[in-house]
Amino acid sequence: MQDNRTFTLIKPDVVRDGHLGEIVQSIQDAGFKIIAIKLTRLSRVEAMDFYGIHKEKPFFEKLIDFMISGPIVPMILEKENAIEDFRKLIGSTNPLQAEKGTLRHQFGTTMTKNAIHGSDSLTNAHIEGSFYFSKRELFV
Ligand code: RTP
Ligand code: MG
Repeated sequence: MQDNRTFTLIKPDVVRDGHLGEIVQSIQDAGFKIIAIKLTRLSRVEAMDFYGIHKEKPFFEKLIDFMISGPIVPMILEKENAIEDFRKLIGSTNPLQAEKGTLRHQFGTTMTKNAIHGSDSLTNAHIEGSFYFSKRELFV
C-alpha cells in the first residue's frame, strides 16, 4: 500500500438504510480518490479473521454478528495524509461522542452500528486492503 492510501469499510447499517451514495459523496467531497470499491458480504469465518485483533474483547461476538448482517462496501482511498485525515473525517468510535460534521456523527447510531471503519495505520491499511482486493481490482 502506498503511504498516501487508506482502507475503509462502509458497514451494513449504512448500506441497509440506503445512505451508501451520500457517504461515498462525502468521502469524495473531502478530497479522497477511490482506488478500489465493491459491494460484498462476509461469512462468519471471514469476519472473525478480519477482526482477529479484537477476538479477546467483550464486544467481539456482537461486532461479528453485526458485520455479517448484510452487505458491506470496502474501499481503498487515496489522499495526502490519508490515514489521519480519514480518521478525522469519520470521528470517534462512539457516534454519540463523534464531533458534528463527522461521518459517524451523521450516519452512526451505536458503538457497534457506527457506520464506517477507517484503518489506524499504514500497516493495517495494507493488510485490510489486501483482504478485500486483488491487484487487478485497483485503479492504477
Ligand atoms: P474501526 O476499526 O471500525 O475504524 O473503529 P475504531 O478503530 O474506532 O475502533 P476499534 O477499537 O478498532 O473497534 C473496532 C470496532 O468494534 C466495535 N466496537 N464495539 N465497546 C464496544 O461495544 C465496541 N468497541 C468497539 C466498533 O464497531 C468499532 O468500530
Ligand atoms: Mg480500529
